[in-house]
Amino acid sequence: MRIAVVGSGYVGLVAGACFADMGHEVILVDNDHRKLVALRNGKVPIHEKFLPELMARHRGQRLTFSDDLHEAVRQSSVIFVAVGTPPTESGEADLSYVESVAREISGAIDSYKIVVEKSTVPVYTSEWVRKIILRNGTDAELFDVASNPEFLREGTAVTDFLFADRIVIGCDSERAAEALREIYQPLTSGSYYQRADAIPQPDRAVIPAPIIVTSSKSAELIKHASNAFLAMKISFINAVASVCESVGANVHQVVHGVGTDSRIGPRFLNPGIGYGGSCFPKDVMAFRAVAKESGYEFRLLDEVMRINEEQRQRFLRKVRSALWTLRGKHLGVLGLAFKGGTDDIRESPALFIVQALLQEGCSITVYDPAAMERAEEALRPRQTNANIKFANSVYEAAHGVDALLILTEWEEFANLDFNRLRGELKYPIVIDGRNLYDPDVMAAQGFTYYSVGRAASHPDGVPAAALRNANNKK
Ligand code: UGA
Repeated sequence: MRIAVVGSGYVGLVAGACFADMGHEVILVDNDHRKLVALRNGKVPIHEKFLPELMARHRGQRLTFSDDLHEAVRQSSVIFVAVGTPPTESGEADLSYVESVAREISGAIDSYKIVVEKSTVPVYTSEWVRKIILRNGTDAELFDVASNPEFLREGTAVTDFLFADRIVIGCDSERAAEALREIYQPLTSGSYYQRADAIPQPDRAVIPAPIIVTSSKSAELIKHASNAFLAMKISFINAVASVCESVGANVHQVVHGVGTDSRIGPRFLNPGIGYGGSCFPKDVMAFRAVAKESGYEFRLLDEVMRINEEQRQRFLRKVRSALWTLRGKHLGVLGLAFKGGTDDIRESPALFIVQALLQEGCSITVYDPAAMERAEEALRPRQTNANIKFANSVYEAAHGVDALLILTEWEEFANLDFNRLRGELKYPIVIDGRNLYDPDVMAAQGFTYYSVGRAASHPDGVPAAALRNANNKK
């Protein structure tokens, strides 16, 4: 099918590349000229596994780039809108980009088109998009509006798209539902997965991908409710981790016991320094605002957000209590991205913690495998002094510091060379906001180790057997 995707951000770019890989002709539309030039020249603006391969495979052939929305609409039968919906001051989603795209699309419709919202939007958006298109003079018979929320995660976006747990299409007309079914047919029939050049299947893939057809409003709510529920799971386990710390229990043992109940499941129950990124913080707030607007006070979501904020503060308190005073302390920080596997620092709890520690008078050497450039842009302007340094490796960040903080769950940080690390640190203190290590092993390796939801461990408090086991493991 001929598809236009409007907006080449995370969702638009990944969706466009994946639709091309499924065999469709895709025009990716954006009004950012620099971005378009870069894309046309084969530059992939985000750090995303398999995206460079898909871009190389389809760029200039099944995947083209344009700034001409009008022409793209004329040439396509389905138009996916994947522009940004940033939060306003009051936490609602700002839909002005969606509205202006809808207006422009309206002026270009000359035959039947389906306009599909792919951005995360509040309930009723598809109704509004429909009204805007009608208001701008398009005949009702010439178009349908549908909702097709996206559930991809950064870092695994391509596989999340092609091996979706489910595909949700919200349509209020059978004609639109039919067209969307056809677009996703390579995934729902399983034919995509038979191909020798298909993107490799991840663990836990549901094949073929199930499709769920709902009304537009239900589809819009499915997206908000899913993100809010996942954020709630994280805040829930972070709250449990705080209780574990108070009573001396181990949160991982609790997660194991709780998560093996198949009704609960173990995923998204990793305690840490709270959720960040461009989705959960914004979407929980937006869903809260939508509910309020519709007359329901969704106070549970206030608490989800409060626990998330509190989690960062708790971690800062942990750093203070490990180091006593902070002014003048030199800290190494591993991780700036909001999670492992991405260079995205939007709403990153790691960045928040670094900024708070700088304000308290620490000097910090940071390292992240992918987010350094973005973090430098974000941190440098505010730090006119030399309190922040950017290292080229984990061990450079650890060199001569009073303590090492782990703030992002990169795999690279979970496999450190303990001897080398100990040699670099001024004091062998590790404060881990992502629970990448076993406290006993760390103590046996000579570290004082703090983590989330588990008791701190110290080298002199470790039984000899644990020491022997840990050494054998190394
Ligand atoms: C999230 C959802 O997982 C996707 O399904 C959704 O499509 C996407 O938002 C979106 O709306 O576009 P993403 O923001 O890429 O995806 O990242 P997640 O992997 O969900 O992680 C979000 C945050 O939660 C990260 O800061 C991560 O470190 C944290 N997290 C995640 C935890 O603290 N504990 C966990 O168990 C899982």
